[in-house]
Amino acid sequence: MKAWVVRRLGGPETMRFEDVDESTPLDGMVRIAIKASAINYFDALMVAGQYQTKPELPFVPGVEISGVVEAAPAASALKKGDRVAALLDSGGLTRGGYAEVGDAAPGAVHPIPDGMPFDDAAAFTLIYQTAWFGLHRRANLQSGETLLVHAGAGGVGSAAIQLGKVAGATVIATAGSDEKTAVCMQLGADHAINYKTHDFADEVKSLTGGHGADVIFDPIGGDVYDRSTKCIAFEGRIVVVGFTSGRIPQAATNHVLVKNYSVVGLHWGLYSKRAPELLPAANKALLDLYASGKIKPLISARVPLSEAPSALAMVAGGKSTGKIILTI
Ligand SMILES: NC(=O)c1ccc[n+]([C@@H]2O[C@H](COP(=O)([O-])OP(=O)(O)OC[C@H]3O[C@@H](n4cnc5c(N)ncnc54)[C@H](OP(=O)(O)O)[C@@H]3O)[C@@H](O)[C@H]2O)c1
Repeated sequence: MKAWVVRRLGGPETMRFEDVDESTPLDGMVRIAIKASAINYFDALMVAGQYQTKPELPFVPGVEISGVVEAAPAASALKKGDRVAALLDSGGLTRGGYAEVGDAAPGAVHPIPDGMPFDDAAAFTLIYQTAWFGLHRRANLQSGETLLVHAGAGGVGSAAIQLGKVAGATVIATAGSDEKTAVCMQLGADHAINYKTHDFADEVKSLTGGHGADVIFDPIGGDVYDRSTKCIAFEGRIVVVGFTSGRIPQAATNHVLVKNYSVVGLHWGLYSKRAPELLPAANKALLDLYASGKIKPLISARVPLSEAPSALAMVAGGKSTGKIILTI
């Protein structure tokens, strides 16, 4: 099978498109013929060796896929031909998503509804689960509150806009260009601010009559986090989701005290280890919202597997909107 292999760490261009021997499925794993593979921002960090998870070299990047089961362990309740979505762990040459075939742990594989296309299924889990756990579990977002979503045209940001509207919040989004703010509005945001040309903290205060945002969903960090502390509401919650700006901000605890707000961290991947019992209910709620047409992943491009490096470079450079899907 063909797969993109990382043999040395670096930019997306260091990956090599190789023939990989996939003849033996790994013991106890589900073998999946991959149909669609989502590109995530952290794939680029992993390829560069800058992510918290550092697979041994060589490895195939990509963690989020959909496809058809080719073989499954008897105890797994999955069978050949099942349409599934799965999270892979990029450990070895048949466990990454930038490939034609992947092996996943049975617990990380779940069937997808008949009417769900493979590209939606590949784009679905990480962005919506991250937004769901961030907004509901960590920030306890309430109907009627104001939610500020940074990088609203990005993967997790686009999901947070949609889920914020479903929850009954007024959603203000920020993005780094006018094209991206237009995308935020199409996703359902009530207001969208180009944070490169406008001071979003002033705008949020003005839009909320001085109250500020009750919940701030922040995948960017850096200056965006610092400025968010200027428009967080009394008893507001800032959800720390990521640091695409490249700078990990420092929380000033005196400011947290003086303004009565909370800074809460979100590491969605940890739920599968520390509280896996929470995941199926979230998955069901999200699939129900998808089935009723209330949420749908924004897929801005579908590109062949052979073009993975340029697609990954787009995402790493903050040039993409929503999700880019590799098709196989
Ligand atoms: N905590 C968790 O459990 C969890 C789960 C999934 C993802 N994440 C993290 O969430 C973050 C966003 O992921 P994503 O998949 O939504 O990424 P994405 O689709 O690539 O969106 C990220 C956005 O960040 C903004 N950005 C600002 N400065 C940037 C820079 N220097 N380089 C690149 N982008 C920059 C860009 O939007 P603008 O142009 O609008 O600024 C970009 O579109 C990542 O850090 C990812 O690792 C965290």
